[in-house]
Amino acid sequence: MAGGDSSVKFLLLHRTCKLVVLLCFLHISVTVFFYVRSLDVRFSFVQNQQHSNVSSTQTNQVRHTGFTSGTEPKVVLTTKEEHREEPKVSEQPKEEKKKKEEVEPEKKLEKCPETSPLLVGPLRVEFTSPVNLDQIKDQNPNLQPGGRFRPRDCEAVMKVAIIIPFRKREEHLKFWLFYLHPILQRQQLDYGVYVINQDGDQIFNRAKLLNVGYLEALKDYDYECFVFSDVDLIPMDDHNTYKCFSQPRHLSVSMDKFGFRLPYNQYFGGVSSMSKEQYLKINGFPNNYWGWGGEDDDIFNRLSSKGMSISRPSGDVGKCRMIHHDRDKKNDPNPQRFDRIAHTRDTMHKDGINSLSYQVVKTERLDLFTKVTVDVGKP
Ligand SMILES: *[C@@H]1O[C@H](CO)[C@@H](O)[C@H](O)[C@H]1NC(C)=O
Repeated sequence: MAGGDSSVKFLLLHRTCKLVVLLCFLHISVTVFFYVRSLDVRFSFVQNQQHSNVSSTQTNQVRHTGFTSGTEPKVVLTTKEEHREEPKVSEQPKEEKKKKEEVEPEKKLEKCPETSPLLVGPLRVEFTSPVNLDQIKDQNPNLQPGGRFRPRDCEAVMKVAIIIPFRKREEHLKFWLFYLHPILQRQQLDYGVYVINQDGDQIFNRAKLLNVGYLEALKDYDYECFVFSDVDLIPMDDHNTYKCFSQPRHLSVSMDKFGFRLPYNQYFGGVSSMSKEQYLKINGFPNNYWGWGGEDDDIFNRLSSKGMSISRPSGDVGKCRMIHHDRDKKNDPNPQRFDRIAHTRDTMHKDGINSLSYQVVKTERLDLFTKVTVDVGKP
């Protein structure tokens, strides 16, 4: 009897143990599952991704549409299908509006639609035949001095300053103006183009020039949104709107140079946009990245450390071409860049728009853009 009793107890104990082990296992599996999932979604700092720039095999596996859909579904997709028919449809009412405006010119304009009806979708972009400034000027008769524009039939959804860091890339700038002015006008933006030209022959400082562009553009007009664009990048679809979104936007998401995909998930170089608030929240950009590389990763780290995420167009809409060129003089890779991006969190509050110093050498209001030549100093 006593033996039977203890064997029943043992059986019970055995079963209980099994159950506990099973529960533990279940618990661990669930934990691991959610952890792995959160890794996917969460932004990791770029410092952990330095190898991205060294080993291309690894980075090529990163799909460019990776995390847009998760973070910001609303922003993500302006599919071509939605708008393909619209340009034709819109022509009629546009004509009518124009007439009305001539009768009562001072009437307050209606807001432009969220998606411009003038967009045409994919564009052919090539750099074989050179373009010249007079031709571009003739083709864009509605531009105001300094490369300014606002739609005449409606009130633009946003006032956008486009900032281009620049030095000795006249040929590229012509292509940029040739392609972008018509696109930006079709996007119905209230915009101005600011070419920030680094004076002298010191080492190039892209991020500092962008900071200068931010301040100089604000002296002109009450801009709400800033698009930071390299001079050699041309979008291949006008649905890639050069404006700001509820999160900082990366616009050049599939460049021909990288096989029309993101080189790595945290990549924020090329063309990006930020509202005034987003920009100020991260204290602008670093001023101490001299030479090529890393400053865009630093900007990404700033955004991510302030809890912001990156909004992106789809890989299709975000296609763009880069104009081929040799490496610029005085813009060699910055050997300190890896060390710098490892410390963004510690340095970003001291180094940024709050510590920016520069001298404007000259501001020229040209037909197609405003050119600010600036002395940003040296390392
Ligand atoms: C890595 O490469 C990208 C793409 O060329 C570049 O924009 C970025 O600045 C580079 N980062 C570093 C740390 O070199």
